[in-house]
Amino acid sequence: MMNEIKHLKQIVIVSLLILTSLNTIAQKNTNQRAKWFTDARFGMFIHWGVYSGAEGIWKGEKLRYDNDYAEWIYYRNRIHRDEYVTLLDRFDWKKIDPEKWVILAKEAGMKYVTITAKHHDGFALWDSNVGNYDVAKFTNPKRDIIKELAEACKKHGLKLGLYYSHWVDWAHPNGWDHTKEIYLISAQEYDKYWQEKVMPQMRELLTNYGDIGLIWFDMWIHHSKSIVTKKQLLQLKKMIRKLQPNCLVNSRLGLSVEEDSDIDFKTLGDNELGSKKEEFPWQSPGTVAHSWGFHALEEQWKSTSTLLHWLINNASLNGNYMLNIGPRANGDVPYEISQRLLEMGKWLKVNGESIYGAEAFDLRKDQHDWGKITCRKMVDGKAKLYLHLYNWPLSKKVFVTGIKSKPAKAYLLANKQKLDVKLEGALTTVDLPSEAPGEYVAVVVLEYNSYPETIDNLVGKTVDRGYSLTPKNSLNESELKIVNPKRFGSIPEHVKVSRKQEFQWKIYVEQPKTLHIDASYSFQGNKDDGTIELSMAKSNRKLKVKPTGLTVGEPNSDWHIPNFDAHRMGTIEITEPGYYTINMKVKSSDKHPILFQWIWLGE
Ligand code: GLC
Repeated sequence: MMNEIKHLKQIVIVSLLILTSLNTIAQKNTNQRAKWFTDARFGMFIHWGVYSGAEGIWKGEKLRYDNDYAEWIYYRNRIHRDEYVTLLDRFDWKKIDPEKWVILAKEAGMKYVTITAKHHDGFALWDSNVGNYDVAKFTNPKRDIIKELAEACKKHGLKLGLYYSHWVDWAHPNGWDHTKEIYLISAQEYDKYWQEKVMPQMRELLTNYGDIGLIWFDMWIHHSKSIVTKKQLLQLKKMIRKLQPNCLVNSRLGLSVEEDSDIDFKTLGDNELGSKKEEFPWQSPGTVAHSWGFHALEEQWKSTSTLLHWLINNASLNGNYMLNIGPRANGDVPYEISQRLLEMGKWLKVNGESIYGAEAFDLRKDQHDWGKITCRKMVDGKAKLYLHLYNWPLSKKVFVTGIKSKPAKAYLLANKQKLDVKLEGALTTVDLPSEAPGEYVAVVVLEYNSYPETIDNLVGKTVDRGYSLTPKNSLNESELKIVNPKRFGSIPEHVKVSRKQEFQWKIYVEQPKTLHIDASYSFQGNKDDGTIELSMAKSNRKLKVKPTGLTVGEPNSDWHIPNFDAHRMGTIEITEPGYYTINMKVKSSDKHPILFQWIWLGE
């Protein structure tokens, strides 16, 4: 008996260990639930509701106050609940057909669709038994947009996602609207809203519409800073896990992936792109222009290239991109949106292999100035790298810095045209034909017989055959206080050196050559003061820092900017191919700091 108990104990311990390690794998990589999501990479967001009838304008006046999001008109323009729904009179119910949105998503190469089932206005797009503020009560014959969309998704093989505004609800007397920061509401009152609207409505959505791929909550601050309690959030999550165990939940529930490993993916801010490779699933929600709901005064359309770059950027960091459409009150998707989506779909038809199921590679995010890399590990141990060329290089060459393995072959993904490729140490060079194989972004595939070996922290060789040594790509980046660019990036990134600062970089030079050195900095002292000293390949070069003066930003507006100026520091002879470390010391007097910007090593 004792033995059996001991044995049982062992089994429990081992199972617990397995469970915990599975849990870490889930967060380190992708849990089983989220596998489809990380493979998908690209999805559609739909903002459509009563506000679509207003198009960002109420009684002749444009949307008030902050953010200019058309779906906020109810709150922004202080519209009464009952008057708000008169906007529904503008809807063309005969024409409205959610299947058309799903077909567009499919043609755009998107793998899932997430619709605003209930946005902040509190109005439900399905036939709800909770309250009287839903689409079925205002249509004859009754409409249930969620049902129609769910059926269309099933028919066309796309996953269905539901946006549900849990925190904010402007229509329920106890729901949250931001004025309650001023005109307070008690926790008990708020819980009434939670128990009588959120919980039963979510139950309906999770019960009546088949498989739900994901629920997309929208609280962009941590729960501790809101009226919502962790207990309420966990109550909600528990119900989702019970009713739809495969349904994903995003971090805008109000719980971060770091805090709760059971959150399936992290949602970044609106139109916020990934900045680093992450091991857990994540996503950026994005708009084609600015507003989410259709806005008649919209003018900020992003180009198809920009949208493609954003999709590729995220895929190259293990992220997802959910791109929004704001259909009009007659169901039409604005041409500016559908045209861009179809163009993206055309590109993905040819190049989708580099996006779907592809993932981040090991090199630094901005290692290369020609674009981004994604990677695919094959079951047989082989690997493919996809080089996304945002611009076809004038030199007809692509340089990849930091890989020590030689590709078995190289070709263009669009037409399989074979390309010459060579490896010199840590530099791979691919020769391109004179013309790009298609529009937007061209993809070069490098195939490897085994997963390629990389070297960290090298500065990449640029398309114009130089090395741009910046604070960001230095070996000691983490110890530098980098001043971010200002005024739309037009005032450059730099490090302010008061007294002394050292910098180190590492590069690989593939052939003997002479490298010219330039140093760019701003110095506002009035006489030569301070030094920049650089050592590389057993040579030293020293520069006395000179005043760089001011420059005029705009005529007649007194906008005078400290000038950044490049100064030649001489040349360095590289006699042998190899790895070189560059050490640099910047010294300034106490009085005037030196704003160090970059070193350029060029042929
Ligand atoms: C913000 C806005 C909301 C929009 C959402 C999309 O949270 O409040 O209107 O639905 O972002 O990411």
